[in-house]
Amino acid sequence: MNLETVWSQVLKETSVNDCSIHGPDHWARVERNGLYLAEKTGANQTIVQLFALFHDCRRINDAIDPGHGLRGAEYAAKIKDKLINISSDDFDKLYYACEWHTDKNETDDITVAACWDADRLDIGRVGYIVDAQYMNSKPAKAIAESGDFNPLERIRLRNWEKLTAPIP
Ligand SMILES: [Fe+2]
Repeated sequence: MNLETVWSQVLKETSVNDCSIHGPDHWARVERNGLYLAEKTGANQTIVQLFALFHDCRRINDAIDPGHGLRGAEYAAKIKDKLINISSDDFDKLYYACEWHTDKNETDDITVAACWDADRLDIGRVGYIVDAQYMNSKPAKAIAESGDFNPLERIRLRNWEKLTAPIP
């Protein structure tokens, strides 16, 4: 599976504006946060990366937007056969993580935990405090408690803008 191809497809079809607080800059930071957490906890990196891309891609507003997680999961299911090459168990986990990312707080699954924590570690962008109470994994709790986000910066951010540029 080529993640850049999946990104290009989602960027073409997303309902979210490029400059939205829930847009691709956010997805890229969630991906970075998730990769950091996966490195520490052993979460499945591919699922975490796909979650980052799909969880907010079918939002229709930047407020609560009920059902947006399920719509993201359904959209992933729609393009799965063409572009997403993971096992059906892994896909079920991705679907679950997207569907419930705003409606459930706790999970025992390390991969779902990395997905949700990665998203919650980015809540500071909209002026909320990153709160350890809502984190599931130890490394995410540690970052929230210390308020030191520098460890995340060690991981390279995806340069998604180049994926939307017209081919020369
Ligand atoms: Fe998000």
